[in-house]
Amino acid sequence: MELIVTENFSESSRIAADIFEKAIAQKPDSLLGLATGSSVTEIYKKFAADCKCGRVDFSNCKSINVDEYMGISKVHPQSFAYFMHENLFEKTNFKSDNIYLVDGAGDEESETSHYNEFLASKRIDVLLLGVGANGHVGFNEPGNKLTASAHTVALSKETIEANARFFCSKDEVPKKAFTMGIRDIVKARKTVLIAFVNAKAQALKSLFEGDEVDPNLPCSVLKLCADATVIIDMQLAKAAGLR
Ligand code: GLP
Repeated sequence: MELIVTENFSESSRIAADIFEKAIAQKPDSLLGLATGSSVTEIYKKFAADCKCGRVDFSNCKSINVDEYMGISKVHPQSFAYFMHENLFEKTNFKSDNIYLVDGAGDEESETSHYNEFLASKRIDVLLLGVGANGHVGFNEPGNKLTASAHTVALSKETIEANARFFCSKDEVPKKAFTMGIRDIVKARKTVLIAFVNAKAQALKSLFEGDEVDPNLPCSVLKLCADATVIIDMQLAKAAGLR
């Protein structure tokens, strides 16, 4: 697991975008695992600008997202599908047929089984992850056990509170979600995790302590990934005791 400490969020995002763009240049039909949230918006802005000037070409790339809220449809402004269209797909040359998104308003069982079928038959080339302040990756929440395949999950109190900032009130935050499982994450050829706010300092500190994989710290599964890079800025690195 490589740690890169940058001067600021913009530099972190540039480095993360470069990792993706290099991989896409080498393999134009890469399957990209993509995340949502404030940590990745700048990367997507860089993808949009780079695509416009021909520095990257997404036309043969395929994508799948790491998670989605349950119970809200793709036209809900807080759905991850909406986020992806707004922030990335509409601003680049991804082809709609190459985009896999879970339908948050769809049937729980069939959405989960389609998600699993897709993931079981493929290996993600480059996977982008954010991390929750409680250490969640995708929506794999801390607990006694981790789940290998894509599944649905009851969101933790901490996650509902953390994500309430995107909704009018905490009550509007969905209580359940779809997420990739740990095997799907670990199977990726290359993984990039980006974080930038000090609320995540404890999770980052614990991630770099010891060699254990801890179900109470789901991001610790990065230690099992073939090629994982964690990108944080100096402020967060200092808060996490990593500088
Ligand atoms: C969210 C999502 C994750 C995301 C993480 C960090 O709840 N489930 O996929 O990466 O938490 O979000 P943010 O970057 O907004 O802090």
